[in-house]
Amino acid sequence: MSTTAAQVNAPAYVKNTKLIAWVAEMAALLQPKDIVWCDGSTEEYDRLCAQLVAAGSFKKLNPELRPNSYLAWTHPSDVARVEDRTYICSERKEDAGPTNNWCDPAEMRAKLQTGEQALFKGAMKGRTLYVVPFSMGPLGSNIAHIGVELSDSAYVAVNMKLMTRMGRGVIDVLGTDGEFVPCVHTVGAPLAEGQQDVAWPCNPDTKYIVHYPSTREIWSYGSGYGGNALLGKKCFALRIASTMGREQGWLAEHMLLLGVTNPEGQKYHVAAAFPSACGKTNFSMLIPPEGYKGWKVTTIGDDIAWIKPAADGKLYAINPEAGYFGVAPGTNTLTNFNCMKSLDRDVIFTNVALTDDGDVWWESMTDELPAHLVDWQGKDWTPQIAKETGAKAAHPNARFTVAATNNPALDPEWDNPAGVPIDAFIFGGRRSTTVPLVTEARDWTEGVYMAATMGSETTAAAFGAQGVVRRDPFAMLPFMGYNMSDYFQHWLNLGSKLAASGAQLPKIYCVNWFRKGADGKFVWPGYSENMRVLEWMLGRLQGKAHGVENAFGVSPTYADINWNGLNFTQEQFQSVIGIDKASWEQELKLHDELFTQLSHKLPAEMPATKAKLAQRLAA
Ligand code: OXD
Ligand code: MN
Repeated sequence: MSTTAAQVNAPAYVKNTKLIAWVAEMAALLQPKDIVWCDGSTEEYDRLCAQLVAAGSFKKLNPELRPNSYLAWTHPSDVARVEDRTYICSERKEDAGPTNNWCDPAEMRAKLQTGEQALFKGAMKGRTLYVVPFSMGPLGSNIAHIGVELSDSAYVAVNMKLMTRMGRGVIDVLGTDGEFVPCVHTVGAPLAEGQQDVAWPCNPDTKYIVHYPSTREIWSYGSGYGGNALLGKKCFALRIASTMGREQGWLAEHMLLLGVTNPEGQKYHVAAAFPSACGKTNFSMLIPPEGYKGWKVTTIGDDIAWIKPAADGKLYAINPEAGYFGVAPGTNTLTNFNCMKSLDRDVIFTNVALTDDGDVWWESMTDELPAHLVDWQGKDWTPQIAKETGAKAAHPNARFTVAATNNPALDPEWDNPAGVPIDAFIFGGRRSTTVPLVTEARDWTEGVYMAATMGSETTAAAFGAQGVVRRDPFAMLPFMGYNMSDYFQHWLNLGSKLAASGAQLPKIYCVNWFRKGADGKFVWPGYSENMRVLEWMLGRLQGKAHGVENAFGVSPTYADINWNGLNFTQEQFQSVIGIDKASWEQELKLHDELFTQLSHKLPAEMPATKAKLAQRLAA
């Protein structure tokens, strides 16, 4: 072992000199009390979880009720992604584009690393630095990419074990000179000599989630939560990977991936983009309803897809993750039976409530409310208290972390290094009005338009006001690593390239499960019943299903949907599929606003498609 390897406590199997040198450089900056290299073993996972229990950061759940599972409660200021603290530090501001926070890289480096008061200087004092090597995608797959996260949070290390292929195997793939994306994460709470730690260390006042696309670096300060801290997920697999995809001709998308097999045994693969907390996990684990005997839906991924064109001209997708970090509230055996089964054991829960017998609970998990709980902030909770104060037992963005292998509906191809061929893309926002249940784009450009102009009501997954409609192009607004207009162009270019090779392009659909009636309730039953929409799409792919053209695209009539097993009237259907002219005139004004914001480099196809839409609406 060279002196440097010994200095950073690297095990003998670490041979990558660049990695060792980088860890040494970072340790000098961060000044941790010690360095631990994660090998990804079960023994290590158990040891770190036990350590988190001893530190008061984890509660071990009742092993009879929830074997091998833990509960963490965060600091109340650290419960969601912090979009206003997230930066894309490209060399030029226009490369980050108007939808991202940009800062000059030199200025940001001074603030974080090099300046007198640089935040990362000594940020890990009194803490352990965990070296967490991880692969996004199957180990050794030529679609996969490797990252190494340095973190002072054992919570991050154990979550990364469930969410990625993490540990020694990755170091072996890295070999002596393999490339990795360097990710530095600190909770931003150094400990002075003798200072007692808290259960959820973080920096309540200062947070930075920073990306340098040109050097593919990620620096995260001050938060221990979710996408702010598990840097393989949003930071790498979306923001950095989207820039890699642009350079290399592939796509990194905020999409679930599912397989759907019909009773004849034909299998299709669908990639679907929805904003955070809009039901991607539920859709990816859907159980076909009554009346769909012989149909099967299987999960490849629930949040992120990496999609690459292959030699046969088709797009192939992998799920770069190996686990699910999903929203708990609203999940139950009716909304997502497979997910509830996945959560029977081996789970890390964050910010859900604790039952008196040492299990977990969250809003709508059961019809019957528990008589008493300890809520996510450690306070007593009873149905009476909830009624009087509106207190939630679980935080609305409470999460579970669980390995994909716990999912009974896991697709046998989920780990296939070659990926699965994509037959259709679905884009869906959360809209209580305006947007129809399902519309097929007439061509690729119209599909890109639909995705680009998608709007959605905001959810608790990010800090800020909830229920406000904002444009969320491709459900990527918070996750784009470069200029949004360049990204639209990248999608258009990819379509042209595939079409030129003579390949059959995937069809593109826009859906909205969330339209509400005059009573303020959702009209469409959603969940399992979304299978009916999926079946219509597959029928379209096979050239069998009928649809009618409207201003926006092609939609089914009542007679085109299979209603076997569901009582849904023609009138109800009309209220979720109808295109209201006045609402659409309003909607188009909002598309205009988006296009004004993105006018620099906006592909001409976008306003041209809008003009055609407006014409059809006026006709
Ligand atoms: C997520 C999100 O955590 O989109 O997946 O916020
Ligand atoms: Mn997501």
